[in-house]
Amino acid sequence: MTNWKPNSWKGKPSKHLPEYKDQDKLNNVLNELSNFPPLVFAGESRSLKEHLAKVSQGKAFLLQGGDCAESFAEFHPNNIRDFFKLFLQMSLVLTVSSGLPIVKLGRIAGQFSKPRSAPTENKDGVELPSYLGDNINSMAFDAKGREPDPERLLKAYSQSASTLNLLRAFSQGGFADLNKVHLWNMSFVKDKAKEKYQEIEQKVSDALDFMNACGITSENNRRLRTVNLFTSHEALLLPVEEAMTRIDSTTGEYHDTSAHFLWIGDRTRQLDGGHVEFCKGIKNPLGIKCGPTSDPEEIVKLTEVLNPDNEAGRITLIARFGHDKVQKFLPKLIQAIKKAGRNVIWSCDPMHGNTVKASTGFKTRPFENVISETKSFFEVHQSEGTFAGGLHIEMTGQDVTECIGGAQNITDKDLSDRYHTHCDPRLNASQALELAFLISGEIKKNSNFSKTSIKAAS
Ligand code: PEP
Ligand code: CO
Repeated sequence: MTNWKPNSWKGKPSKHLPEYKDQDKLNNVLNELSNFPPLVFAGESRSLKEHLAKVSQGKAFLLQGGDCAESFAEFHPNNIRDFFKLFLQMSLVLTVSSGLPIVKLGRIAGQFSKPRSAPTENKDGVELPSYLGDNINSMAFDAKGREPDPERLLKAYSQSASTLNLLRAFSQGGFADLNKVHLWNMSFVKDKAKEKYQEIEQKVSDALDFMNACGITSENNRRLRTVNLFTSHEALLLPVEEAMTRIDSTTGEYHDTSAHFLWIGDRTRQLDGGHVEFCKGIKNPLGIKCGPTSDPEEIVKLTEVLNPDNEAGRITLIARFGHDKVQKFLPKLIQAIKKAGRNVIWSCDPMHGNTVKASTGFKTRPFENVISETKSFFEVHQSEGTFAGGLHIEMTGQDVTECIGGAQNITDKDLSDRYHTHCDPRLNASQALELAFLISGEIKKNSNFSKTSIKAAS
């Protein structure tokens, strides 16, 4: 890209950006951020892209998940640890049953800003700006709190850095050792998911015994005791993404060093908009959310603009249609992408098209609809001969009551018990594990199927 600069987005219309009253204060903070160390290194993003290229060939599966919005209130080492445990458990379930390596991508260490459906919120006749994420304003419903405050960006940077630091320590320091699978369990995961997980533990333990007998142990083999965990968030708050974008000294290319992977949301993927303009110039792997309102030809065009060389691993299409719409709309999108010969990874977000309001007033997601969209996603790919390569979910390692249904049979009335999310309702650990079990069988079927059809076609 010849004339692209990290601030080129400023010449384009950009939706969902906050208006800061004190521009000088904002500029000072952004200037500070632009001198802070990168959170990730460009070489790591390149490595993620290579892993994702494998997913696009049906040789690996992508698991992406975490909070809808990270918050200052929920920032605690135990929460990070429990997220990590659950992510490892889900990955293990998926690997053991599908036989594929799992690319682990957290929605974490930077997932703060949110696009909102309405710019203002009304409570008892009082109207205030909507909550936009902890790095912008406060969830508390008062005029001062809802004013965007640039200082929050510094706190979010610091939280992201220490979250990532702990995740790196867990990933590399022995916690992820396959000999410790039993330690990843969460005490409140009961019933079916727990029993099924124990079966997996046994299988892993047998496999490790076998490898041990062959002389392969976690002491002499790094891959048995470490994992790669990558980070991602929505590239929404462009001034911050710009400040974190640096030239990689080893290649001379621009990388957004705030995360390994960035995605463009369903509400900001306009071809002529600032978010697309920004993402064009960074070399990170990218996601594009697609839903019932996306025109297949426009998505094809987006993949061309964002990936002119049709590089494998660069683009992940994150489908979030809703359980009742996926069968109708997804085939048309797949066909358009296939016809245009675009290289993409297909990932299923069964969360964002299934948000409803419970009778008790809480925003929730019926677990059965999450399951149903996921199943349909796999079925559609099966009949189109394409590889359903990923799952994108909002989840937490905590025992929250935010999505109804699942093995604990959470009802509308139970939602108020432990409803902690700062934005959308998340799957709790039991529900997330149940979902992992459900799709592991589907991945295996689908990967065999698409390999056969790829062979037949060639
Ligand atoms: C999200 O992932 O939290 C989100 C806002 O999703 P979408 O852009 O798909 O609505
Ligand atoms: Co969300």
